[in-house]
Amino acid sequence: MSRYAIKYINPDAEFLQNAWYVAVQSGEIINDTLLPLTLMGEKLVLYRDNTGKAVALENACPHRKLPLSMGKLVGGAIQCGYHGLTFDALGQCVNAPTQGIIPDNAFVRSYPVVEKYGLIWIWMGNPTLADETKILDIKDYDNPDWGLTEGGMLECRCHYLYLLDNLLDPSHVAWVHKTSFASDGTEDVPLVIENTEAGVVVSRWINSIDPPPYYAELLPFSGKVDRLQYYEAVMPSVAINMSTYVRTGFGGNSDENLPEDSYRMRSYHFITPIDAHSTRYHWFQHYNTNTSDEFVRQKLNEGARTAFEEDRVILEAVDAGMSEKRRPNLDLRLDIGARKFRRKLSVLIDAEKQSIH
Ligand code: FES
Ligand SMILES: [Fe+2]
Repeated sequence: MSRYAIKYINPDAEFLQNAWYVAVQSGEIINDTLLPLTLMGEKLVLYRDNTGKAVALENACPHRKLPLSMGKLVGGAIQCGYHGLTFDALGQCVNAPTQGIIPDNAFVRSYPVVEKYGLIWIWMGNPTLADETKILDIKDYDNPDWGLTEGGMLECRCHYLYLLDNLLDPSHVAWVHKTSFASDGTEDVPLVIENTEAGVVVSRWINSIDPPPYYAELLPFSGKVDRLQYYEAVMPSVAINMSTYVRTGFGGNSDENLPEDSYRMRSYHFITPIDAHSTRYHWFQHYNTNTSDEFVRQKLNEGARTAFEEDRVILEAVDAGMSEKRRPNLDLRLDIGARKFRRKLSVLIDAEKQSIH
């Protein structure tokens, strides 16, 4: 760890800071890219050093606060575009042209980053607590029997918790995704809410239905199906939506012991606050059927992108509406899972703030 790393967290932040978040997809920083990015209200620059390792630094030169992203990469370090102060991957100034010696306080903050699952993960809190084994374990990521979509990223002008609410809400598909994910039962079959160690699960089986349009041509069987919607959110802001389809009569109360030809798709959502009203939303999908068929891979990816755009339109309007509300808003039974998740997260955020006073 650099001696220049600033070992504190912001007591006014409304985000959990001692946690891993997805900053960008791996492909967003290539070659000599200096990518300016705001996360959790902090301005960063991301790039790769000359070994290809991802780096995240504070995006402000300590001299006149020119964004370092306006400079250039020199031997894996960033040279400021105004007077040439140059900072290495730890944020330490390694060259100060015209100064003779490097000023003692010439440094920028360096953030721990880890590249995993085709994503660059960042730790915005106390760097001494950054333990990469705490990054979410993605079951089957390296399992060749599972297909993986390319995924994508959306920027959404809403508070990040509206995205988490949405991803713990199986019922919205009946209205927001009418032409893709909606099926009989999505409007009114009751939801089952469970607390987990790291978050909340909202789920339900919907039995004996025609499959929804998005899935109909992906399933390895025809006719009526039993459908499991399983929506899980994990602290602080990852959501996993699992869709399971089996021939009618084989679903029920459990995800265990289902027939061999059961269709399973896991959609991973990585939600990262930019600030209080905007969010980066990264995603990809994992699936167990026709895994080497490129048409299927593209169809899943594009279908998801279309659906998430539908969510984006709704959630941006929700953020604007909730910002202007004059009276308390109404909560419904379908909000129970999301409210539980918010409560659990606010306990962690409060504990984090207490720990630094
Ligand atoms: S502003 Fe960066 S070196 Fe002067
Ligand atoms: Fe949705």
